[in-house]
Amino acid sequence: MDQLLSQIEKYKKEIEKFTASDSKEVEEFRIKYLGTKGIVKTIMGEMKNVAAEKKKEFGQVLNDFKLFAESKYESLKESAADSQKSPANTIDLTLPGDDIPIGSRHPITLMRNRIVSIFQRLGFAVAEGPEIEDDWHNFTALNLHEHHPARDMQDTFYVQQNPDWLLRTHTSNVQIREMERGILPIRGIYPGRVYRNETVSARSHCFFHQVEGLYIDENVSFADLKQTLYFFVKEMYGKDVKVRFRPSYFPFTEPSAEMDVSCFICGGVGCNICKKTGWVEILGCGMVHPNVFTNCRIDPNKYTGFAFGMGIERPAMLKYGINDIRLFSENDVRFLKQFTSAI
Ligand code: DAH
Repeated sequence: MDQLLSQIEKYKKEIEKFTASDSKEVEEFRIKYLGTKGIVKTIMGEMKNVAAEKKKEFGQVLNDFKLFAESKYESLKESAADSQKSPANTIDLTLPGDDIPIGSRHPITLMRNRIVSIFQRLGFAVAEGPEIEDDWHNFTALNLHEHHPARDMQDTFYVQQNPDWLLRTHTSNVQIREMERGILPIRGIYPGRVYRNETVSARSHCFFHQVEGLYIDENVSFADLKQTLYFFVKEMYGKDVKVRFRPSYFPFTEPSAEMDVSCFICGGVGCNICKKTGWVEILGCGMVHPNVFTNCRIDPNKYTGFAFGMGIERPAMLKYGINDIRLFSENDVRFLKQFTSAI
């Protein structure tokens, strides 16, 4: 009997130490200790070999042992069930992660940032103006007289409730707003969206984007204008690109010019993009008209300045080989996701 007692002690220690990490191991415990051929039953079978006077005492010990094994089984079952509920067990950490779609910058944004950042490096400060504008800032202050054809309903979207309000037809309105603030000198670059009452087609749209530039100080000359734009062109289109200025007319500048760059698609030889001329027009510019200064309460005898304005869509179409302007505003993900690279 002593031998049996020490065996029971040994099993008790074993049971105490037993751990199960899942229900399979719990079941293994049950079979080993509490099963029909398990240790508890086997030891109980030894009862018949115990001397009659010791039977009561041994029965007590055996009963304790059985209860001990059973309560261990219960607690193993509970903790295995708990750990199965915990998220650590339900998540398969070896599975590949969820795809998080990453957006990309719009090609117009890319081109605008690129243009703007070149001028920022020259000390031009970015500003923006309203898209719903009054007649004064979009036309009158810019020396566009009352009968100027650009004011025609055919070209300009007017706000029905108030004929003085319109959707700006160019970013030149920001020039006026900046000059009216009266803080001189001014060196600014003004990107934004503009609207014109045009039939929508592959080549033109009723809204598009421009970047306006303005530089006002004492003694600013046309040479400064040219030098600034030369720098821009070299940064934007490369060192080998040629530039030419053609005399032009804008009511708000005098003299006025348009600037062409040698076609960066065909290198000036002549192609469809440059209509076989070898040149691509990229902006309008000129020296700020004295009337514009006066309209903004700036003394034209003290200050001079230059201004320029360029579209964003066309350079973007040329750079990315986009052949339909409508693609920019259709929000087709297949189109948009092609412009992931930063430029
Ligand atoms: N506002 C003109 C347009 O929309 C572009 C332009 C031409 C802006 C000459 C200027 C400028 O500032 O000096 O066609």
